[in-house]
Amino acid sequence: MDGKRILLIVGGGIAAYKSLELIRMLSKDGIASCVILTKAGAEFVTPLSLGSLSGGKVYQELFSLTDEAEMGHIELSRSADLVVVCPATADLLAKAANGLANDLASTALLATDKPVLMVPAMNVRMWEHAATQRNIAQLQADGVTVMTPDVGPMACGEFGPGRLPEPERILKEIRRMLAGPAGFGPLAGFRAVITAGPTREPLDPVRFISNHSSGKQGYAIAEALARLGADVRLVTGPTQLPIPEGVTAVRVETAVEMHDAAKANLPADIFVGVAAVADWRPAARAQGKLKLKGGAEDKVALQLVENPDILKSIGTRKKDRPRLVIGFAAETSDVEKHAKGKLTRKGCDWVIANDVSGDVMGGSDNQVLVISKAGTERWPRMSKAEVALKLAERIADTFHDPETSAAE
Ligand code: CTP
Repeated sequence: MDGKRILLIVGGGIAAYKSLELIRMLSKDGIASCVILTKAGAEFVTPLSLGSLSGGKVYQELFSLTDEAEMGHIELSRSADLVVVCPATADLLAKAANGLANDLASTALLATDKPVLMVPAMNVRMWEHAATQRNIAQLQADGVTVMTPDVGPMACGEFGPGRLPEPERILKEIRRMLAGPAGFGPLAGFRAVITAGPTREPLDPVRFISNHSSGKQGYAIAEALARLGADVRLVTGPTQLPIPEGVTAVRVETAVEMHDAAKANLPADIFVGVAAVADWRPAARAQGKLKLKGGAEDKVALQLVENPDILKSIGTRKKDRPRLVIGFAAETSDVEKHAKGKLTRKGCDWVIANDVSGDVMGGSDNQVLVISKAGTERWPRMSKAEVALKLAERIADTFHDPETSAAE
């Protein structure tokens, strides 16, 4: 990452001291930091300590004659490759979401033309407040990346989400954002085939059997792998989602079509089966619309046949099996037990298991178990985008350092 620069905006909060550790880790990675310290931030960490670690000036005032003469605030906001707000307080999130510009930090955020990463830290009630969540949704809609805070005990004595993510996690996100568009990065030269979304199994020309899958998790994985440089083929059932940048999509309707398209995109290094494939399809597809028979009490029998198991078919291939085959397990009970069964039965290297009895299908968050022959790892509840990112990084680590591959 040598030669990359970030503009680090340090907001006010007990977590501000962790920005010092972040600057140190960034500089070890060859990433230079230029720092803006807010008035509230200066209550928790001094410009002297920030400046000593970053090796440069710490900017604090919007209306400073000397600072403006050296580097104007507009120039400052564009001088880096990435703007990182850490800690991002509820106040800074609110200002940025609403376009306020009444101090140096908020003005820089409004004036920048660079990607922005918000690393929130605040009291759990403030984090969960409808206003904060609304501001975050607005920021995300504006293209800002907002990390999910860690869950744990807070300085104020409460417990829940709101803690600043550990500096290692922030550093990974910064690296990912600095890596830029697909084609570069640790997975450059690797091909990944991903299945995502639901399938539709037609009964007649107007009806079909399907499920509630939104495709969010699969699309997020496709995007994360593309960001790390992989050549991503997304075989997708019908969804409302835009195809992520840098991803090649193959749109399908039925499980049989999805199976054919997945095979057609082999050989690949990585296969991730995220699709909620319909397990059965109607044995026959009526040419014309099926008609009511009249009697309200009449029972109508529907004959179903099993669909191909796409994951199993890829995971157990003799010839050109991808080096890493990853499945998902959607369970409503005994999650780990059933998922382990799928790991062996379907020839997977890893299974990502989740409990879908709640709001996972269609929702934005996910809480998963990562299961491999080496064991089971429980990841905390996080957004589907973060699950995707963490998984993509784990995949990249596997190809570059096989020692760290398995779930510990
Ligand atoms: N899968 C697949 N083809 C199918 C069914 C499932 O590729 N016909 C894949 C899914 O994409 C997922 C994994 O298999 O990666 C597990 O899917 P899941 O719905 O949890 O399990 P099923 O195999 O359908 O088993 P069950 O319904 O009994 O839990």
